[in-house]
Amino acid sequence: MKHLHAILLGACAVVMTACAPSASDDIHLQLSADNIDSVLADMTLYEKTSLLVGAGWGSMFEGLHIPFTHGHRVPGAAGESRAIKRLGIPSIVFSDGPAGLRLKQKGATAFPAAIALASSGDTALVREVGRAIGEEAQAAGVDVMLMPGMNIIRNPLGGRNYEYFSEDVALSSSMASAIVRGVQSAGVGACVKHYALNNQETNRFRNDVQVDSLTMHNIYLENFRRTIEDTEPWCVMASYNSVNGTVVQENTYLLTDVLRGQWGYEGVVLTDWQRHTRPAEKIAAGVDLLMPGMERRINRIYRNVQQGKLSEERLDEAVECMLQLIVKTHTFRGDGGQAYDTLAHAALARRAGAAGCVLLKNANNTLPLPQEVKNIALLGVHSYRLICGGTGSGFVNSAHRVSLDSGLTAAGYSLDPELRRVYEQYAGTRKAVRKVSGMGIVSKYMGQPSYNEMDIQDEMLRAAIDRADIAIVTVGRQSGEGKDNRLEKGYFYLSDTEQDLLRRTSAMAHEQGKRMVVVLNIANVMEVASWRDWADAILLVWCPGQEGGLAVADVLSGAVPPTGKLPVTFPVRYEDVPSSANFPLVTSGDKDVHYTRYAEGENIGHLYFDKHPEVPVAYAFGFGLTY
Ligand code: BGC
Repeated sequence: MKHLHAILLGACAVVMTACAPSASDDIHLQLSADNIDSVLADMTLYEKTSLLVGAGWGSMFEGLHIPFTHGHRVPGAAGESRAIKRLGIPSIVFSDGPAGLRLKQKGATAFPAAIALASSGDTALVREVGRAIGEEAQAAGVDVMLMPGMNIIRNPLGGRNYEYFSEDVALSSSMASAIVRGVQSAGVGACVKHYALNNQETNRFRNDVQVDSLTMHNIYLENFRRTIEDTEPWCVMASYNSVNGTVVQENTYLLTDVLRGQWGYEGVVLTDWQRHTRPAEKIAAGVDLLMPGMERRINRIYRNVQQGKLSEERLDEAVECMLQLIVKTHTFRGDGGQAYDTLAHAALARRAGAAGCVLLKNANNTLPLPQEVKNIALLGVHSYRLICGGTGSGFVNSAHRVSLDSGLTAAGYSLDPELRRVYEQYAGTRKAVRKVSGMGIVSKYMGQPSYNEMDIQDEMLRAAIDRADIAIVTVGRQSGEGKDNRLEKGYFYLSDTEQDLLRRTSAMAHEQGKRMVVVLNIANVMEVASWRDWADAILLVWCPGQEGGLAVADVLSGAVPPTGKLPVTFPVRYEDVPSSANFPLVTSGDKDVHYTRYAEGENIGHLYFDKHPEVPVAYAFGFGLTY
């Protein structure tokens, strides 16, 4: 305690010296887009350092009174920078995330996950989605959206794959560019993330990626290069992991030599939200803003400059970048807060949800549902609790979510009432709910739960199929920040209950000359080869956003023909994917040293399978049927 007290007193002493009024306090120079140099020249060392450290976790966890935090401007936003009132420098607000604006208050539109947007392949549509997200951000007082997530999907088990676009560099970067253009056309900054080689969640704060130079440049950096050069995003987020032994946030090669030197990037580089140590080393390597920030980091940077360990020239560069960013924002210009058309955004989310659906199988033209189909045996708990988006920072706290049962009902179909009753009852019980994957901190704006599949007795199943014209079964998988998917039943593979449900439904339906459609409401690639023969049609809908039920019903009914194409390969076996030999971790003899060797080199996704036709895939990259 004594020790803590001493540290606090020490810190205060530094702050007090640092805060000593400058000679020019009485000049009242106020920041404008034309006087950045003069403002910079007028700033005290303390003011400069404070501009490079965010205002704390306060805005995200407001109400919890976490010490050293004082951000409160937009509840639920991920963070904000510090204001310097003397110079008219406002604090600006940063918010997640890829599928829409994530705030504490309900109401933002939850768009389909990035992997679904990529399946649409439609850059104009994706740009529109970006624009809509930007409009919602400025309305809420948010200046920079922490999106798009654009890491390459290296392995089918990556926990945040659904927040990313593709295994393919060209598709990933074109989608990312489209969404950045959209967001920024609304006068809101985009922050591309997570630069770089952040392709897994296991050990996410400390994993060291060991990768050869060609693979790094041709695949993982090339993806970012294209978007960054094409669109000049206002911000780039430096990821948590290390690359070849150096923490990315302290990696001069990646942040300065490549990003700024080779690609000419002039915007702000900010850190991902943890790994707060060694702030001066981060600034020296090329970071301009430490997020979400802690008061004591200011003092650390300040001391490093005073002691000559961090050059004032580098500090000034970072401050200038921050000022250039700030003058572009709505907060600075005072022209945010414009209303937007909620209904138009919902309609766009529905359109994008349908455009992201990929028809994987359609034997004997099972889909679109024929005219004579009126009664549906709707099975699978996620039919009644559709997973619209992932958990953690990828979640959007939308005002509503349309599940598949509601979507089909709205499209005029009759659903079996007995099934609806038992599923609703089941979903209301505790044991049905799976833990929200990933995040340790579970709160109401961290994500939708997912469910263990319910066991339906033969008698009930047969009776429902008897009464129906067709059976539709939804298989659901949630995913999110903090955890990779598991190579286990119930995760990458069907659980026993799911397998049993599909097998029996298929058999009972076929006995009566009826058909079974499977809806894959999944955040990630899963094993399909062992069970797909049971299904007459398979529609992959990913996490289709808040209007998901309506969007999927549009495709099932034929109101919108499916046009989506796979942005990732569905392998027959997980082991067929070259990175599977090196995912997620290798632990050396030292228990604190973990690394992932990207030994597969450039053999990522279809680049490998295209070269190896002897290795069959379940569904190839780019595959997708239509009506
Ligand atoms: C995530 C980022 C996110 C940030 C702020 C981090 O833990 O990795 O993607 O933008 O939190 O919520």
